[in-house]
Amino acid sequence: MSTPAEHHTIRAHVTGWGRYVPAQVLTNADLERMVDTNDEWIVARTGIRERRVAAADETTASMAAVAALRAIHTAGIDADDIDMIILATLTPDYWMPSTAALVKEAIGNQKAAAMDVSAACSGFVYAYATAQAYISSGMARHVLVIGAELLTRFLDYTDRSTCILFGDGAGAVVLSASEAPGGALGIELTTEPQGAYMIWLPAGGAKSPPSAATIARGEHYIRMEGKETYRFATKTMATTALESVRKAGLQPDDIALFIPHQANVRIVEAVAKGLDLPMDRMYVNLDRYGNTSAASVPIALAEAVNEGRIGVGDNVTMVAFGAGFTSGAATLQWTADPARGATADAAVRPEDVHVRLPVDWDSVDPIPQALVDLMARPSPIDVHLDDVVPGEPGSAHSEVHA
Ligand code: ACO
Repeated sequence: MSTPAEHHTIRAHVTGWGRYVPAQVLTNADLERMVDTNDEWIVARTGIRERRVAAADETTASMAAVAALRAIHTAGIDADDIDMIILATLTPDYWMPSTAALVKEAIGNQKAAAMDVSAACSGFVYAYATAQAYISSGMARHVLVIGAELLTRFLDYTDRSTCILFGDGAGAVVLSASEAPGGALGIELTTEPQGAYMIWLPAGGAKSPPSAATIARGEHYIRMEGKETYRFATKTMATTALESVRKAGLQPDDIALFIPHQANVRIVEAVAKGLDLPMDRMYVNLDRYGNTSAASVPIALAEAVNEGRIGVGDNVTMVAFGAGFTSGAATLQWTADPARGATADAAVRPEDVHVRLPVDWDSVDPIPQALVDLMARPSPIDVHLDDVVPGEPGSAHSEVHA
């Protein structure tokens, strides 16, 4: 890392972006066969139509490494140019080491400091804010910021109020130091601990170490008070976004596109209403991926850029909320050529990326029993993750059910 700058003239610009989602699709119709739910209810109450499920040999770190290498490819730098890796997740591969450390090795980086950030669905925005601070203080030049989640291994597939909501995936950006105008502008982060037990994973930590009893009680699965969380989200997301926009010296109408956390389309509609903006200013892809927690904002950002929804000079606000309760928003002026993202998916193939496994250690089958049959069925898709071309909104998902 370099020494602190004398003046705060260094700005953090997004120079690279990338995302990875597993090929396996879990549709609402699939869930109808597992729990007492139906497609109409899920679509009407959440907007979600399908989500992705990681394969048995995939982990949070492996998905993160693919997204990260794609972001590095887009930035046009070497993996070793990265001097810091910040990875947001609530589903790390292990309690220790950090998932960021595994990603550092998988991408072939020698010099970066690497750490995880825990702020649930707001995690990517928190990690981005941390990266911005490191860059603007002169302590880092290229920071890799990742949001990655493997939530389908932490869901109770008998609880219809949670298992329908979440999916797997990863997104990443490279933030780079530059004295050019634009880049990161205003940031707002909040935490409301009164919501601490509204979304939580009870067992496995120091308060309740894992045991046969905690497993029998299903305390290793995500629990959520949906209504309370919904209330918090609709109240907080618009105010957090507004504060970030205000700190950037802008008005909501100056923002070309909002990238909201993809939890529920009704929540996104409430944000638009709260900001007095039409829905076409809100990017939405939760219909295809569900809620991927910390991965949702960077996946959405990468897709929005690759689909031509964000251009050079546009103001963009990312805004998220999640367990904690946490909330965060970051406003930036986009400066990178969107066309740079066009070749990243083809250049970095998941089968070429490897996370080192422990020696002499056999894990149990990581796929939840409830998903095993679905994973075994022939996949209806041959997903090409490289077919989103800037300016041509037709993308991978349009072929999913072809
Ligand atoms: N299928 C069919 N019916 C269902 C389902 C389902 N999957 N789930 C619940 N229902 C039923 C309920 O049992 C209830 O029936 P009842 O009236 O007979 O009791 C009825 O549908 C209404 O249930 P509500 O919970 O009131 O439904 P609501 O409209 O609140 O939607 C939802 C539930 C989608 C969970 C919503 O509350 C929500 O989106 N909350 C926010 C969740 C969220 O965004 N979390 C993200 C943060 S996550 C993080 O940080 C990890």
